[in-house]
Amino acid sequence: MAAPNATRPNIYAHIVGWGMAVPERCMTNDDIAAIVETSDEWIRARTGIHTRYIANERETTALLGLRAAREALEVADILPIEVDLIICATSTPEHIFPSTASIIQDMLGASKAGAFDLSAACSGFVYALQTAAQMIRSGAIQTAIVIGAETMSRILDWQDRSTCILFGDGAGAVVLHGRADAGGLMSAVLRSDGSGRDLLDLPSVGSLDVNRPDLINREHQTYKLYMEGGEVFKFGTRVIGESVRQACDIAGISITDLKLIVPHQANERIIHAAARALKLEPDVFMLNLDKYGNTSAASIPIALCEAAQQERLQQGDYMAMVGFGGGLAWGAVVVQWSGVPEPKRFGTQRRQFIYLTAAGRQRIRTFLRRISETFNRIRPQRGRLQRLRRNIDKIDDE
Ligand code: COA
Repeated sequence: MAAPNATRPNIYAHIVGWGMAVPERCMTNDDIAAIVETSDEWIRARTGIHTRYIANERETTALLGLRAAREALEVADILPIEVDLIICATSTPEHIFPSTASIIQDMLGASKAGAFDLSAACSGFVYALQTAAQMIRSGAIQTAIVIGAETMSRILDWQDRSTCILFGDGAGAVVLHGRADAGGLMSAVLRSDGSGRDLLDLPSVGSLDVNRPDLINREHQTYKLYMEGGEVFKFGTRVIGESVRQACDIAGISITDLKLIVPHQANERIIHAAARALKLEPDVFMLNLDKYGNTSAASIPIALCEAAQQERLQQGDYMAMVGFGGGLAWGAVVVQWSGVPEPKRFGTQRRQFIYLTAAGRQRIRTFLRRISETFNRIRPQRGRLQRLRRNIDKIDDE
């Protein structure tokens, strides 16, 4: 971590890398229609979703987050050991603790980084971005990886056709880096209205442990995700426009200055309604929920990553990201796009080597811990043996 310096110049938090990962298995609307009473036509017309990706048992939240983080480091050309902080926004962490971010930190070999998870449901990535950016601006850190990662399929009620059709699994990540040149995150609006906490609710614990009847939500009689779709729809439509406008005001730009808005990918109809409310053309909004569905905290970084890959943003462009969901919580940020990072300093091979040694180091540590535990178990017995021998010696002396 960088040392605090009272006389330091302004530091700006630039987005210098982006990455994404989705599971191998693609699930179509027809596949879902084989499980619950629905149809491809209904899902497409009501949501805009055509497919989503569903994790297998091995594809955990941390693994998807790790893949996205590695890709983001590759674009940024930054080594894992240069990272000061990893934040993972997720509603489907593998455990309450350790944090999914800590698991990712270990697997990345980011040996100098702090790590924690952030819970703000589908707005989590926007919250995490602002948190990391603020730490960079304060001079406390220089480089952060901000991840949104989810395995929503683990916490869905696959008998509830009004929710299971909507969600998918995946992860997206960005690398934030502090530099003196102006740009990067310009403004943020973070809001919550907890009086709507019953509208979107998940009473379970870790995504690896979601089948516990003792965790049944008494009000809604479910231990899986519960949602009042109509209410959430109205809420989403209202807050997208409201918060993007506020974030633009704080950044000192007009809404028409925005080249691109990357919204939480919940429902195409919500996004079109927000575009009408803001009097913007629908193509100002990045949309890729047709492929991935709603991946909760991962949806914004996945959409941002595809927008960057499709070169929909040029250096100096203004863009906004806006999230909304459970809490109720919502938030928007305005970013001045920093463009593609400078030519490569480090080769991919150096990063690959760190990933390999990270995996090796983890195995060696586990092995050494086991040896130490075994040794500790043997030691008291060795003490007992020594006492016994001393007593035998005493008897022999007498
Ligand atoms: N297939 C077929 N019919 C379905 C269905 C499905 N998958 N899901 C619901 N229906 C039925 C309902 O049972 C209802 O039937 P009824 O009129 O006989 O009672 C009818 O369709 C209309 O239901 P309704 O809930 O009014 O539909 P809707 O147009 O509001 O769409 C959602 C439902 C869930 C798609 C929509 O409310 C939505 O997208 N909400 C926001 C969800 C969201 O974005 N959440 C995440 C925020 S982070």
